[in-house]
Amino acid sequence: MFAPEIHEGTILVADDNEADRELLSNLLSTEGYEVVCVADGQQALGKVASDSIDLAVLDVVMPRPTGFEICQAIKSKAETRLIPVILLTALNSDADRIRGIMSGADDFLSKPVNKHELLARVHSLLRLKQFTDELDNAETVLSSLAVSIEAKDPYTEGHCDRLSKYSDAVGEKLGLPEDLRVALRRGGLVHDIGKLGVPEHILLKPGPLTPEERKIMEQHTLMGERICAPLRSFRNVLPIIRHHHEKRDGSGYPDRLRGEQIPLTARILQIADIYDALTTERPYKKALSTQEAFAIMREEVKRGWWDGSILDEFEAVVHGYEPVQPGRSGTQ
Ligand SMILES: [Fe+2]
Repeated sequence: MFAPEIHEGTILVADDNEADRELLSNLLSTEGYEVVCVADGQQALGKVASDSIDLAVLDVVMPRPTGFEICQAIKSKAETRLIPVILLTALNSDADRIRGIMSGADDFLSKPVNKHELLARVHSLLRLKQFTDELDNAETVLSSLAVSIEAKDPYTEGHCDRLSKYSDAVGEKLGLPEDLRVALRRGGLVHDIGKLGVPEHILLKPGPLTPEERKIMEQHTLMGERICAPLRSFRNVLPIIRHHHEKRDGSGYPDRLRGEQIPLTARILQIADIYDALTTERPYKKALSTQEAFAIMREEVKRGWWDGSILDEFEAVVHGYEPVQPGRSGTQ
């Protein structure tokens, strides 16, 4: 004999009709869900903002804001856009469904609600929500780990955050699609996550590394790629992690790629990485001015290390940028 399935999750029910509200609430509570009921759109928006809602069941016809408008508001905010929304409508018209799809609804049900249909959709949408929450958690863990590397070395404080912003700004200037810009933002945070595997006496050594130590340090690109590889949502971040120390003349690591073989996103991030390292203080050097940093990087472009056209874009970004908080940083 099977034990009954235990359902977890908090469901928001918004309906101005009291009888319908109670019906839905009883149905969902009996299944084990926690139900939060509201009678109008304003209260619904308040609950979405204040409570931890896993799914919203919204009546379309309510005094303003309507179910469509609440759905649109939920789907337009980064913090709430992953909450699944079911719209309830008495009118089974195509126009309503199209408007619902435009507002980002995940599903529709016609009133009067069929109990079995409602429960089946609630179960499946909540399962999906659980997966996205887990994914979200995994990304948060990776970002926290990356920040923990930064925390080991006071000279790298704020480095990842600045890198993330610089790289994304260059991506925007180059007109890169949103998925690559997301990868650049994530790459800025986690590109050095492989340093978790580098012993501290090497990671924090205040002077030049010996050839053996350098070999171990260089492993951070491969180690980082291995750490992030299981996350599907990080597939565009992997080339950044692996190749952010390649050089155009083939003298970089780990694969000695040349020129355009180096992924564009990695070429963007490495420019931001070098610039931030040059313009921030380290144990054995003072922070350089913006002009001094760009003069050095121009020389390195001539030497065949960096992509000159990306450096041009980056320079334009830096000159049009708010002064970045003076921190200290390093890149190896
Ligand atoms: Fe690195």
